Amino acid sequence: MSFKINNTVTWVGKIDWELRTFHGEEYSTNKGSSYNSYLIRDEKTVLIDTVWQPFAKEFVANLKQEIDLNEIDYIIANHSEIDHSGALTELMREIPNTPIYCTKNGAKFLKAHHHKDWNFVEVKTGDTLEIGKNKLIFVEARMLHWPDSMFTYLTGENILFSNDAFGQHYASELMYNNKVDNAELFQEAIKYYANILTPFSPLVIKKIEEVLSLNLPVDMICPGHGIIWKENPLQIVNKYMEWAKNYMENQVTIIYDTMWNSTRKMAEGIAEGLKEENKDIVIKIFNSSKNDKNDIITEVFKSKVVLVGSSTINKGILSSTAAILEMIKGLGFKDKKATAFGSYGWGGESVKIIAEELKKAGFELIDDGIRELWNPDEVALERCNEFGRRIAQQIH
Ligand code: FEO
Repeated sequence: MSFKINNTVTWVGKIDWELRTFHGEEYSTNKGSSYNSYLIRDEKTVLIDTVWQPFAKEFVANLKQEIDLNEIDYIIANHSEIDHSGALTELMREIPNTPIYCTKNGAKFLKAHHHKDWNFVEVKTGDTLEIGKNKLIFVEARMLHWPDSMFTYLTGENILFSNDAFGQHYASELMYNNKVDNAELFQEAIKYYANILTPFSPLVIKKIEEVLSLNLPVDMICPGHGIIWKENPLQIVNKYMEWAKNYMENQVTIIYDTMWNSTRKMAEGIAEGLKEENKDIVIKIFNSSKNDKNDIITEVFKSKVVLVGSSTINKGILSSTAAILEMIKGLGFKDKKATAFGSYGWGGESVKIIAEELKKAGFELIDDGIRELWNPDEVALERCNEFGRRIAQQIH
């Protein structure tokens, strides 16, 4: 499959309808994904990025239907991660001398992944490549989200090829943002941001400001995954600016795991108290062992306060609680409040352990937390209600 975007640019990527996890098992891709590769035909012919390695043969065969591979003058590798560079080995077997334009880190990382010393041309921000009527302008996007990442801008057509930035794991042959269900599209876009780009938010702000200061007109943003931003493309740039500034909605997320439902009852009791005190707060409750971990992270991203609970087991916490806390810690959320809760039979270490982990993750602890012995009775549940009311009073 190929798809003509306009007279100059053709999409030659791969829609991966079956993909259900990405980065191993770290990221759920419930709506599949795509690996977007673009062919630019001007006086020179340019290929931007490739696809993931399992589709390498299919990609090259498909590309041959579109063009004689020897007509490709330049390859641009915006990012070396193998979901974009995976087909390079297969492609370069056919056209081994074609120059590959990438950042200095890009050349290093591509060599490390493919173990080949191809004809790399290292570029920096502001470097240009004349391709005929139009030219390409390169913009390094270090740590968005790898040290090698870069954007490529095509003049004339005014297209920004942004690779991972502004992308979504969302398979659709409708291709454009004005064609697909926008609720689905933005859910996938915010999930992508929350789970992948959160740690780099300060850099997102700086990079967007830098790109906007170049005053380049942007008629389309073509990312490396998912849907192309064609109608009002800057709307996703503005969303990124909003998300990058310690984004939060008026939301509390309660995450727990439970052995015999005692910690679940506590979670629900706390939620009731929160709601009694503040009817406007959105409260979302997730059992971390039963819900998609990336969806939970997306809700944490949207929250002012996060409450994490677990039963005590073996002087520790339940494994799904430990796992979600590890993910939360890695993402480095800023400006969020938290506290802990949990049931116990003896020992009762879970609340203290969770609180310590939340502190290490950079959350402001707004309470010492609450723990209840065995199966909470009415009196214990009233204490949970009161705890919820106390937390609600600290949400402004
Ligand atoms: Fe960083 Fe889509 O790879």
